[in-house]
Amino acid sequence: MKWLDLRSDTVTRPTPGMRRAMAEAEVGDDVFGDDPTVARLQTRVAELLGKEDALYVPSGTMGNQLALRAQTRHGDQIVCEAGAHIYRYEAGAPAALSGLLVTCVEAPGGALRWDLIEPALNPVDDLHAAPPAVICVENTHNRAGGRIVPQDLLTEIAASARARSLAVHLDGARLWNAHVATRLPLSELAAPADTVSVCFSKGLGAPVGSVLAGPRATIARARRLRKQWGGGMRQVGILAAACLYALDHHLQRLSEDHVHARLLVKGLDHPLLKSVHPVETNIVILGVEPPATVDGLLAHLRADGILAVAFGRGRVRLVPNLDVDKAGVVRVRESLEAFAV
Ligand SMILES: Cc1ncc(COP(=O)(O)O)c(C=O)c1O
Repeated sequence: MKWLDLRSDTVTRPTPGMRRAMAEAEVGDDVFGDDPTVARLQTRVAELLGKEDALYVPSGTMGNQLALRAQTRHGDQIVCEAGAHIYRYEAGAPAALSGLLVTCVEAPGGALRWDLIEPALNPVDDLHAAPPAVICVENTHNRAGGRIVPQDLLTEIAASARARSLAVHLDGARLWNAHVATRLPLSELAAPADTVSVCFSKGLGAPVGSVLAGPRATIARARRLRKQWGGGMRQVGILAAACLYALDHHLQRLSEDHVHARLLVKGLDHPLLKSVHPVETNIVILGVEPPATVDGLLAHLRADGILAVAFGRGRVRLVPNLDVDKAGVVRVRESLEAFAV
């Protein structure tokens, strides 16, 4: 039986075409700035996102954390949504690496709004308080089931933040999915933010890599910090080639994952399983109703050759991806429908 792995969009393996592109990549020492493939990727992503400069980094976590460190001082305050990856899933890095106070704001559906952020901001002129420096927004929002941040909310956040000299960082690990779902240009989605990180190892199917884009001076700081944090890499064009290949071949096909995600839950009328969020992109989060349990559902799926993952109390996440075709998605749907206690 072929396993259907829907734990995440990170589980995909490079395709033969991608492996060929990697094997044939022109490379050089990227710490010396000599790798032409990395340079091509950085230029292309900066252009796509409408930013001055960009930096290739090993992971989304490093992209996010470099953005924070490059735009803050130790002891500053940053604000993000309570379910944000930066806060929940980056091993406490804002505190550990940059000495930041993270203030979380709960927003329905993960859609952060300025009227929720403003009351959480510390006063700048009170010496008892950590001064606010960066607002973080995540699009699409992973924990909110791949929800797309309404662009008007982000625009308002950025205008209000700018009026207070605060920076805005966009965790765009899955900005590609928002782009394909909304058809808004990537540059428009990124425009309100000062810095944006995007990932190639999620739905785009590359094995490694993210890019942080932003103003030239901020990216220069991030480049130095990347070296300090051990992320300066040498003939890394081999990996950047996979990212370029993904942009050329896997970007538009993300819409298939979105169709597949809807196929998993549309019209699902099951007494024990409820889709927690409207499915807008490639992530499905199912609430498991008592007397059924998350472990029970995961075991049932596993018996049918399907891998999913627990995602918060009483919840299971399924993420259609490059390695799961429509027939596979139909199999998963049938397995969900057959679930019983
Ligand atoms: C929204 C979001 N941001 C950042 C990351 C971090 O990416 P990485 O696992 O490459 O560090 C992830 C990973 O799943 C993510 O979902």
